[in-house]
Amino acid sequence: MINILTPPLHYRKNVPFHLEKSPAQFRADAYEDFAGQVIRQLTLHLGELAGENAYPWQELEHWFLANLRDEQSPIVEVGCGCGKLTAAMAEAFPDRPCYGFDFSYQLLKAATDYWIDAKNIAWLAPGGFPGKFSLPARRSIQNLYFGLARAANLPLPDASAGTIVSSFLIDRVASPETVMQEWYRVLQSGGRVLLASPLNWLSNAIWERYDEPEKFIAELAGEQWTVVRHPTLSLVEPLDRRGNAVHWNCECMVWTKVG
Ligand SMILES: C[S@@+](CC[C@H](N)C(=O)[O-])C[C@H]1O[C@@H](n2cnc3c(N)ncnc32)[C@H](O)[C@@H]1O
Repeated sequence: MINILTPPLHYRKNVPFHLEKSPAQFRADAYEDFAGQVIRQLTLHLGELAGENAYPWQELEHWFLANLRDEQSPIVEVGCGCGKLTAAMAEAFPDRPCYGFDFSYQLLKAATDYWIDAKNIAWLAPGGFPGKFSLPARRSIQNLYFGLARAANLPLPDASAGTIVSSFLIDRVASPETVMQEWYRVLQSGGRVLLASPLNWLSNAIWERYDEPEKFIAELAGEQWTVVRHPTLSLVEPLDRRGNAVHWNCECMVWTKVG
């Protein structure tokens, strides 16, 4: 596999760290809370493989796969969590390197154990779901890499990636502008960002700026990107076995780097 990566600073267990994450950052990060977001993400993305109902993000995964072009350049997922989509892309394009980056060590650990190191994984179900989930080991996917990095600071050289995909992340970052600038840096000319997000902005300040998707696009695209909007996907994230759920209006767009 072509290795375009800047080498990691160090490893924790089997997870490469491309930046330092302080104890305070670990404590403040909901996606390091094993009893909270970690088991919620594992159940959402891997619950179906462990016998839970249909995968709630299946339609979204189809959208990403249908919009990847058949080419050789590396694919990068940012905010890959436990790696379900990165793994699906790596399996669909076995000759292309697929990189998944996230800021959560716990989710990357599960991703690396399960998809790369062919280990079984298990986790306690979130409240309301029955008991424990357990996935037997499966075969390793060779063209896959997971590493800890920030969306706005990827360990990749300029103009090195053909496609960046990102799902449910751009509205979770403090500065969507800085993140889009970083992705512009990393993409080859004509490279694309497949972006899916409910645009459920993190702060009131960002809501004021981007209260409509058109505004987000108009403010950020400038002359650097052309943007095509695809139909909004309606996704339902189950919360418990009673059928309580969060309903997301997920915007899907393709941003193409101009120049
Ligand atoms: C809402 S989850 C989305 C996970 C998955 N992509 C999905 O569609 O469900 C957000 C993910 O982004 C990660 N994340 C949040 N802020 C990040 C940042 N600045 N850089 C990299 N990853 C980040 C979190 O750790 C988490 O795994």
